[in-house]
Amino acid sequence: MDIKKEIDQIKSSAEADINAAKTGADIDNLRVKYLGKKGPIKDVLSRLGTLPPEQRGETGKLANELKNSIEALLQEKAGFLGPAAAAVSAAPKVDISLPGKPYRTGFRHPIYRTMDEICAVFSKLGFSIVYGPEIETEFNNFEALNIPLQHPSRDAFDTFYVDNKNLLRSHTSPVQIRTMLKTKPPVRVIVPGKVYRPDTPDARHFYMFHQVEGLMVGEDVTFSDLKSVLSMFAQKMFGSSTKTRFRPSFFPFTEPSAEVDVSCIICNGKGILQQAEKEKACSTCGGSGWLEILGSGMVNPKVLQNVGYDSEKYTGFAFGMGVERVAMVKYQIDDIRLFTENNYRFLSQF
Ligand code: DAH
Repeated sequence: MDIKKEIDQIKSSAEADINAAKTGADIDNLRVKYLGKKGPIKDVLSRLGTLPPEQRGETGKLANELKNSIEALLQEKAGFLGPAAAAVSAAPKVDISLPGKPYRTGFRHPIYRTMDEICAVFSKLGFSIVYGPEIETEFNNFEALNIPLQHPSRDAFDTFYVDNKNLLRSHTSPVQIRTMLKTKPPVRVIVPGKVYRPDTPDARHFYMFHQVEGLMVGEDVTFSDLKSVLSMFAQKMFGSSTKTRFRPSFFPFTEPSAEVDVSCIICNGKGILQQAEKEKACSTCGGSGWLEILGSGMVNPKVLQNVGYDSEKYTGFAFGMGVERVAMVKYQIDDIRLFTENNYRFLSQF
């Protein structure tokens, strides 16, 4: 039979059926009969491909119009039969006895959680929290911190330039400069934030990570103040039996400089782990018993002069730590890339 005729027939038989419908259930059955997967309209549509190409468009259009008009008629009739029938007919097919879908609740990312913990410890020691921009001037990121253009230590830092003079900061240290330019001593601040380096990602490196910087400047601020503040921090962060070790190091903005290690939280600084009857080297600290967590030192007088502070009158200490590093030590995470993969199974463990 000609498909157009078929469409006409479906139309008249649907109209007659809908006219005769008496209940919401009748309406539902007719919807299935005419518009369902095995209904005549689906059937017509599936046969469009057998028509000569020039007839397909028009016939398809007729079939779709019919579908819409049957749906409209069904709704109209359901309305006519009364609200109860309409409600039955339009009711979503939901089994209300099924248990609900559980919703996942949100939680803080382990990096921000660690950063909050670090900041909380220093807040209690009287440090205020300040922030700086992620796009920084070359001057604040390097020169003002006594890292001249040709200095070799700049290589590891030379980072993503936005234009000739501005770049994505490679450390939070430039906020030392911003803070001192704005305030007179005494200064006691910590600076959490993101930093960027041209590093190729691997288990220990990523091109973006987080740091917390610290700066304290005043009269009579000494290296022993630095030692006591950082030892207290280590105990609060990693446990009260944590020991700290200061190793001589070099940073252009501090003099003298020190790298700070904490006793390994896994082997308790022993470097060895007892496993069953055997002893084996602790893999977290590589058997040394120590984990490096930050760089620090006494603020280089040149830096104080760069911001107009009297370097004869004032002294200060500074430190900077990697938040990922602290979180990796604290939660025993062995790959820094996990933090940015957005993997719910990883993130939900903290
Ligand atoms: N800015 C250094 C870095 O990113 C870390 C650092 C070391 C900060 C010593 C300091 C400091 O304030 O005194 O590697």
